[in-house]
Amino acid sequence: MNQEVIGEAAMNLKTEEKDKTVIKTGTKNKIKNEKESINCERSLIIIKPDGVKKKAVGDIISRFENAGLEIERIRVLEIDESIAHSHYFEHKGKPYFEKLISYMTSGPSIVMIIKGENAISKARELMGPTDPLKAQKGTIRSDYGSDITINSIHGSDCSESAKREINIFFGNYL
Ligand code: CMP
Repeated sequence: MNQEVIGEAAMNLKTEEKDKTVIKTGTKNKIKNEKESINCERSLIIIKPDGVKKKAVGDIISRFENAGLEIERIRVLEIDESIAHSHYFEHKGKPYFEKLISYMTSGPSIVMIIKGENAISKARELMGPTDPLKAQKGTIRSDYGSDITINSIHGSDCSESAKREINIFFGNYL
């Protein structure tokens, strides 16, 4: 089978099947092209201190895995002021900034890199909007969040932010 025929057939298969099909043909380049074509992304996810205190970690991780996303790296971390300031620099000066920093440094968080097809938008769908009171039932923030600041989880909002945030928490990883 030539590469064009393989490519056309693979379009009709699910992601996992696509990868298997390409692996059978045996070249690294074909695998790379296939992975690029499914818009593989990374997002930086933080299960915030209230999410950890509410024992929501297992459930939240399962939701990402059940959506087909992979946990590529994970750590438990007490975020300090300096890291919180770097991560949330865009919010500096906002009326809620001090509350946000003191909340984010109030106890352990789970910080992870998730990876997979459209990981950023999939994660945002699972999380729901920033304000848990406006979030649809069944989203993470609706199920666990308390208010617009204490909202249980953070996820990157675009690929540039994901890169910046991942490098803050995982030492120039990207
Ligand atoms: P997050 O998705 O981590 O990104 C920035 C955080 O700031 C947000 O979740 C909330 O915790 C907090 N935040 C954003 N907007 C507001 C707001 N209008 N009032 C209070 N807190 C906010």
